[in-house]
Amino acid sequence: MSEQEKTTRKTLGFGQSSPKTAISPAESAKALDTFLAQSKKDLIFTLLGGLSNLASLKIFPAFFQLFKEKKLPSNLAILAVDRHEKTTSGSFRAWVRQDLLDKGEAESPELEAFLHRITYMCFNLQTGSYAELKSRIGQLEQERDISPDRTIFYYLAVWPVLFEPSIKGLGQAGLLADLNACIAVEKPFGNSLTSAKALNSLLSSYCSEEQIFRIDHWLGKETVQNLLAFRFANGVFEHLWNRQFIESIEITAAETVLVGSRNDYVGALMDMVPNHLWQLVCLTMMEPPNSLNADDIRDEKVKLLRVLTADPKYAIRGVYDTYYGGPETYIALKLGVNNYRWAGVPVYVRTGKGMKRKVTQIVVNFKRIPSTLFPTAQPNCLVLELQPKERVSISWQVKVPGESSIREQSLDFSYRSFKEPIPEAYERLLADIIAGDRTLFTRGDEAEAQWAVVMPILNHWQSIVTNNGNLSESDIVHQYPLGSDGPAAAQTILEKGHNWRSL
Ligand code: BG6
Repeated sequence: MSEQEKTTRKTLGFGQSSPKTAISPAESAKALDTFLAQSKKDLIFTLLGGLSNLASLKIFPAFFQLFKEKKLPSNLAILAVDRHEKTTSGSFRAWVRQDLLDKGEAESPELEAFLHRITYMCFNLQTGSYAELKSRIGQLEQERDISPDRTIFYYLAVWPVLFEPSIKGLGQAGLLADLNACIAVEKPFGNSLTSAKALNSLLSSYCSEEQIFRIDHWLGKETVQNLLAFRFANGVFEHLWNRQFIESIEITAAETVLVGSRNDYVGALMDMVPNHLWQLVCLTMMEPPNSLNADDIRDEKVKLLRVLTADPKYAIRGVYDTYYGGPETYIALKLGVNNYRWAGVPVYVRTGKGMKRKVTQIVVNFKRIPSTLFPTAQPNCLVLELQPKERVSISWQVKVPGESSIREQSLDFSYRSFKEPIPEAYERLLADIIAGDRTLFTRGDEAEAQWAVVMPILNHWQSIVTNNGNLSESDIVHQYPLGSDGPAAAQTILEKGHNWRSL
């Protein structure tokens, strides 16, 4: 690594765990671009699951975008690994080309140059010899004249059942012992606290925490990152951000998509909650971190997760009415945050598929003011819509011109008003992995703390199955009409006077 690179990385705090001076997200993004553009370090990107949906939908489009923007090291080799025997490097490149063209890319010399960097290897992650994979990588290094101090990055875009054999295989072949190697693991990181702990301990037997990138792609979304700026770069709300002024918080991640033919679907709770939704709860409710350094932020998230409680009594499951035989497709929860700032403020969280519209939003309901002067005044409400219309809006009570009554109006800010395009989450995440910045990735103890919060619910559901005893409202899986707001029973977990925001 050149002195210049070292200095840039140091400025950014890449790979550091000690507190450092905070820099703004804009400065950080700019410095990241500069770092990537200047980076001369060769890179081997080993994509385990090269033919996966994720590779097609997210990874190749994002990688190509970074390539076009010249944000990748110039000497780059992509080794796509999958078990399909008939695929060759040539047919794989043809598939990636067609896939990118189908997604709106145009034929161009850049596309050809990108494809030229891709090699395919047929390899079974469960039964294959990782020594062979190692020797294929060695061969690639020679063929492509890759420098010995290159970065090598293994990306597990595979089914969760393959995490363990892949990590073991890479580890036992010594591929992770290389300090220039890092490994990215997709979600779900385990399916319980016990399995998350087992995965962590397996990983830590072969590599250090600094080499591990646990992916939660929601952290790569600009609007999710903006939560930190919104809270800590603006004085106006921070003073009100506590139990004295806030009545309740509601977080919704509603989707119109259905489960479809997904056979890896584990149900709304495991699929969305101990990852995406907990990230939103943490970023909304955690204490200010000491700096924007990766570990300072993650320390605060872990502290929040430790006081987050989810009681199975306040968990409503649902399933859309055309879905049979699978796990719940909807979950609504009432949570408690037992710390000084939030004690007594209910946090409502819901997510579901087959709902009326796609929206991910955080709604902060402020307390009602005394009704002595304007008895009809509604409490102020702040809505942070993270997708699909990236915007912030706050409701106000305003006097109607010419009348003595008041009416609710909203003050809106749309993210689309920026001239700059909003990058795809995976572009940012891939760029950060290459730069070694772990801020937007889940730390090992954080992944365990995330599972710890949902375990009482999962254990309770398990006990219902085994006991088959008397079922209460929260034990039933409620049907809801496709295209609706979810089951009406979700109302039963709300405190008096509270309502879900209509979708
Ligand atoms: C994934 C879940 O992690 O996130 C999917 O497995 C879900 O079920 C998806 O649809 C939602 O992500 P996004 O980026 O489409 O909001």
